[in-house]
Amino acid sequence: MTKRKLERFAENATFSHFFQPSWEDLQKGFPLKGRWLADYFGNQNPIIIELGCGKGEYTVDLAGRYSANNYIGLDKKGARMWRGARTTKENSLLNVAFVRIKVENLTEVFAVAEVDEIWITFPEPQLNSPKAKKRFTSPQFLKRYSQILKPGGIIHLKTDNDFFFDYTLGVISESGHTLVYSNPDLYSQTSDPEVKDVIQVQTHYEKIWLEKGLKIKYLRFILQQ
Ligand SMILES: C[S@@+](CC[C@H](N)C(=O)[O-])C[C@H]1O[C@@H](n2cnc3c(N)ncnc32)[C@H](O)[C@@H]1O
Repeated sequence: MTKRKLERFAENATFSHFFQPSWEDLQKGFPLKGRWLADYFGNQNPIIIELGCGKGEYTVDLAGRYSANNYIGLDKKGARMWRGARTTKENSLLNVAFVRIKVENLTEVFAVAEVDEIWITFPEPQLNSPKAKKRFTSPQFLKRYSQILKPGGIIHLKTDNDFFFDYTLGVISESGHTLVYSNPDLYSQTSDPEVKDVIQVQTHYEKIWLEKGLKIKYLRFILQQ
């Protein structure tokens, strides 16, 4: 482990907006599950979560622009999340939290219908078919989301990966979910009002893929009840 990583882990532990429950903690019952609004945010505003948030660019940027929403970034890698957690502190944002967990354990952290919206930003496509169930838009993951999302809650996906985009469109169609909007090349239509808001912020990986000339794809959908 590098010194820089250790320093970041140590600083994460000092942030009151950074949570890293162990598996044992989750088994005992995560105290904020079902209590995020009452015991953490102290308001009744919508909760929007970002899965695989990495450095948390989306979480932090959206929180700054939309102060009437609460944002929670989740990832399994604490050293990456440190960047977003640090910026949250530097910008004195009160509507942000970060939770270091595996997305597989989402239902241990959020209660039924506690979440209003989900963002999935540049997930790993898990191309080998034995890993299909590890894809963040596989039926297995969508089942977890259905347990924590309010009815009609939107799921947003941004990806560079053609296979992952088509795979997700297939899952949506086969499972009877509702595709609300789909765009295979966001940056070719930057004046489209639908697109403008979605490209206001670029994640770390989004910048890398854009520099390589890849097309950035976006869709949003609603789970069938
Ligand atoms: C390609 S990176 C994208 C990061 C960020 N969203 C971005 O666009 O820059 C994928 C992220 O998903 C996280 N991740 C992958 N599998 C995960 C899992 N099962 N649970 C939590 N995080 C996961 C990784 O740690 C990584 O930060």
